[in-house]
Amino acid sequence: MHSLFSRLYPVVPGNARITAENEIVVGDYLFPKKTLFHLCHYAVSYEESNFPDPQTFLPQRWLRGGDDKIKQHPFGSVPFGFGIRACLGRRVAELEMYLLLSRVIKHYKIRPDPAGKTVKPITRTLLCPATPINLQFLDRRALQEEERATA
Ligand code: HEM
Repeated sequence: MHSLFSRLYPVVPGNARITAENEIVVGDYLFPKKTLFHLCHYAVSYEESNFPDPQTFLPQRWLRGGDDKIKQHPFGSVPFGFGIRACLGRRVAELEMYLLLSRVIKHYKIRPDPAGKTVKPITRTLLCPATPINLQFLDRRALQEEERATA
């Protein structure tokens, strides 16, 4: 679940690495020691060669195992970084997201506020919404009772 929004709106839009000890070759380029690489998760996540139709919310991109599995590069989206300096809190963050979302979705249908406008992302070191996100929380039990009453 988090893959969906971590691709489109990565909380950490970029991080960096310095090649301290060795020069390295990336593609056809040789980079000397002490080169600073900035890794822009936000840009990579929208790269069409990794994610066809990148602006579109397509949950099925992330399905595994099916015949129609869409192949994507394993480093196409790395919202928690990678390697020995990757995010230490990843499992905690994922667990909190799963718990919160599953509990909220169990009780409410969530809809964008019909009067709401498009919310753009901005960076303040972390990626944040530029304006408030207004949502409607529709109580599932009340909706069911309404349906029963009108049936
Ligand atoms: C959605 C939530 C989160 C995202 C997207 C995220 C993402 C990241 C990223 C991209 C890095 C840099 C990794 C790298 O350089 O390869 C990082 C580092 C780190 N994160 Fe998170 N993080 C999240 C939540 C958390 C939480 C909840 C904690 C603590 C409980 C945490 C603790 C850390 C620590 C300690 C580091 C530094 C690791 C190091 O430099 O060795 N993060 N995180």
